[in-house]
Amino acid sequence: MSKNPNEYVSRGDLNDLAGLPRRVNLGDAKKRISGQVSAGKAHIEGDLELGKKCVTALRSSGEFKRATQGFHAYPARLHPEAARLLLEALPGKTLADPFCGGGTLLVEALIAGRKVFGSDLNPVATLVSTARTALLSQEQLTRLSQELEAIHVKAAQSMDEKKHVYLPPSILKYKNWYKTNCFDELACLYDAIRTHESELKPLLQAVFSSLVVKYSLRASDTSNKVVYIPRKNGTVLRAFKEKAKEYVAQLTELQTLVPPGTDPAQITLADARHPDFEKVDTIITSPPYPGTYDYLPLQQLRQAWFDLNMREKEEIGSRRSFKQLKAAYDAWLKDTDTWILSCAKALVSGGQLAVVVGEGMQSGKLLRVAKPTIQAAEKAKLSFVTSASIERFDPATKMKKIEYILVFKKP
Ligand SMILES: C[S@@+](CC[C@H](N)C(=O)[O-])C[C@H]1O[C@@H](n2cnc3c(N)ncnc32)[C@H](O)[C@@H]1O
Repeated sequence: MSKNPNEYVSRGDLNDLAGLPRRVNLGDAKKRISGQVSAGKAHIEGDLELGKKCVTALRSSGEFKRATQGFHAYPARLHPEAARLLLEALPGKTLADPFCGGGTLLVEALIAGRKVFGSDLNPVATLVSTARTALLSQEQLTRLSQELEAIHVKAAQSMDEKKHVYLPPSILKYKNWYKTNCFDELACLYDAIRTHESELKPLLQAVFSSLVVKYSLRASDTSNKVVYIPRKNGTVLRAFKEKAKEYVAQLTELQTLVPPGTDPAQITLADARHPDFEKVDTIITSPPYPGTYDYLPLQQLRQAWFDLNMREKEEIGSRRSFKQLKAAYDAWLKDTDTWILSCAKALVSGGQLAVVVGEGMQSGKLLRVAKPTIQAAEKAKLSFVTSASIERFDPATKMKKIEYILVFKKP
């Protein structure tokens, strides 16, 4: 244990901390409404058959919760059915997603028996992707279940005994984002995981991570509106126990769906402009839409709990950067050229790249994405295969925006 007294706080001390801001900046997401958007007119150019499949993928909607797909929230995730349909439309043996987010595509690609590489700049994305794609033996699943149970017991004991727990100093300034009882229970869970030695630790952390926004005063993962929901003592500990059970069941289902002999997914923390995956035959990915989200600041609570290093300056197309509209759009165009060139280099000859991307909106202006993506692919010497698009009505902006799947091939 460290000797720094500031790192140790008892539950009593935590409750006494005063003068903290009631609201902290959690990124510029408060006006963003992520909700249902209705899908309208479709348009296809290039390969018609492939285009039709892409339109069907773009129109995917409704619940789809197989295996680990429902585990842990992640903003702007691809619809899992869209991922499945795209993989079916673009057959191959190896797949990479350099903006893997919560790993939606990676999970479906494992189920399709592919060798999978995923990367993202956001450490929360890599944590969630790692947890969603974990391929465990029966013995490891049993062990995971036992370890999660042991964490629950230890945390409940710390609560009962009012034990001192260790917390990273980074979380203390966010304490007012929690009701006291929820914060204390999270603190005891955090400490129980921290002191637990196991190769499965990232999976335990992911279960903890799935609760830290839900049991805060934040309305959701994509909104920093404050909501006060009464929570009885013991709610968070119970939620951990239930989440743990659900997660083990989801992982068990994943093992049954993934063909035997499939390699485990390789997931790394990396900037898509400089990826480090091996040569692959297919890349399917969804980069940040310009000016739409602040992916890294949105994770501020998790960043504080885990004391994560967020490389916010390297985030592509962030909403906050679009306060300087022209400069930000120019940067997004340049970044698009760079990451597409990196993908082109990583593809084998004959390999395909599919990009799921949608128009952004800033100051009432639509930010076009299809033409610059196609131009970036041309510069990278990829040939155009198809462009499929649908119009969506976005209730947040009351505008129609177009979402695309653009497919290219390396000669
Ligand atoms: C549209 S989301 C991907 C969502 C993902 N397809 C899913 O289903 O969860 C875009 C992702 O790009 C990541 N990102 C932003 N800038 C990046 C960069 N320079 N390199 C790699 N990833 C980046 C964000 O962290 C975010 O996870």
